[in-house]
Amino acid sequence: MVKVLFVCLGNICRSPMAEAVFQQMVNQAGLSEKISVDSAGTGSWHVGEKAHSGTRRVLQQHGISYDGRARQVRDEDIDPETYVVAMDQSNLSDLRLRFGDHPRFYRLLDFATETSVREVPDPYYTGNFEYVYRLVEDGCRGLLQYIRTKEGL
Ligand code: 4NP
Repeated sequence: MVKVLFVCLGNICRSPMAEAVFQQMVNQAGLSEKISVDSAGTGSWHVGEKAHSGTRRVLQQHGISYDGRARQVRDEDIDPETYVVAMDQSNLSDLRLRFGDHPRFYRLLDFATETSVREVPDPYYTGNFEYVYRLVEDGCRGLLQYIRTKEGL
């Protein structure tokens, strides 16, 4: 099983959105038995909470269901084989501080092809969940292509 873990700060806005969008793409590609998808936050403030209402609303508008609860990233998440995909540079720096170097730490928008934006802006502050959705979709599409090539799927 190829494992993909999306990481943001709170695990209520961006990484749950990426998890849900990517899971749908994996399902549509018929790869749900080959690729597992999860998300977590570097921070612990929102552990146990549902995704932010803005994230739930935008996912629902795009026909995607999601019922995950926030959790914090754990030592056992950081397996060398896991694709750990952060939403911004600050998430990546936090991951490196805590877990050191890892061969598969990525930033989601480094896989995007339709935007030159490289940091997923935090909608917790901007309120712009639809814009974040479009960025996340672009990044997830590129990420799936990258993993398929790399893993021969
Ligand atoms: P996320 O957004 O990292 O995309 O889940 C945030 C959610 C909560 C907070 C910050 C960012 N917070 O400071 O509580």
